Amino acid sequence: MISTIEWKDDKVLMLDQSRLPLEVVYVECSDYHKVAEGIKKLWIRGAPAIGIAAAMGIALGAQDIKAGSMEEFLKKLDIVMDDLLATRPTAVNIKWAVERIKTLLASKKGEQVSAVKRLLIEEAKRVLEEDIEINKAIGKWGAEFIRDGDTILTHCNAGSLATGGYGTATAPMLVAKEQGKRIQVIADETRPVLQGARLTAWELMQSGIPVTLITDNTAGALMKKGAIDLAIVGTDRTTRNGDVANKIGTYTVAVLCREHNIPFYVAAPLSSIDFEMESGEHIPIEQRHADEVTIVRGQRIAPEGVNVINLAFDVTPAKYVTSFFTERGAFKPRDIKKLAEKNVAIESIRLHVAK
Ligand code: MRU
Repeated sequence: MISTIEWKDDKVLMLDQSRLPLEVVYVECSDYHKVAEGIKKLWIRGAPAIGIAAAMGIALGAQDIKAGSMEEFLKKLDIVMDDLLATRPTAVNIKWAVERIKTLLASKKGEQVSAVKRLLIEEAKRVLEEDIEINKAIGKWGAEFIRDGDTILTHCNAGSLATGGYGTATAPMLVAKEQGKRIQVIADETRPVLQGARLTAWELMQSGIPVTLITDNTAGALMKKGAIDLAIVGTDRTTRNGDVANKIGTYTVAVLCREHNIPFYVAAPLSSIDFEMESGEHIPIEQRHADEVTIVRGQRIAPEGVNVINLAFDVTPAKYVTSFFTERGAFKPRDIKKLAEKNVAIESIRLHVAK
């Protein structure tokens, strides 16, 4: 499986996904500004992957800090974290990574600055390793809901490339395949920057899962014909009530699924759930440059100066979500908030497929 991001020789190596599938090129980031640039320019993208990039960016930024005291070090590290937080607003994973590292720092106040710098590298590597394990667990729980012969619709890329490996929405597909289920995937191309066409189609072909690419406006017609059995998508931020921010167009897919009685599943690692945010209306939605819509691979396709709305994400209300696949199991939207509670009897809210 291709690596999205790694810590190598005290640098961060990230696959430049904006060039896929035409070229496989790794960018070497030797300071945290380069990591931040990579997140902004979508060299690395997908909520869990940018969370990992943020953790690595913080570790990288820490190495360059010159400080005479822990207090000075932490003050300078705050600037690094703020810069990384400002890169992309919708995915909660950057905030999640920053908070995880702040918790670690709070427990190491008595240590030497040099020791803390090393700990931050270890922590960033751990975030990456854990992510892969989390995705495998999502895969295990989610695969229960996939039957032999199913055709699965997905939107954008919530695959290996969007994570440390294995993907979130693709994990149940990979496990289903390992279980011998004959499945196929329909991938929405995902305008404007074509993560479905460039990334999902590419990585599923490499995994040996049959994949068919469609334009974003084709899904409804296929559903009407009975050609789609279920949909699985990822999420950039899911709120306490189960509302789901994900790539623009996800809401449309969810509403179409409801109309056609097709289950709509969201693969959501706990790092993508914002347990502090009550509902989706509070999620900041990133608006990206008009050029992404008017220029396709260097070619202008719309009149110069035309008004453009380029929302990178939309919010699907919880009522459209059949269930979530997390690393702790599958759950109804109404039970998502319970995952943050201590002493909750997970087995009492976990969903299973009746055998
Ligand atoms: O703009 P992108 O490519 O970062 O958007 C990615 C998505 O919307 C994914 O579906 C989401 O981050 C989940 S990735 C496991």
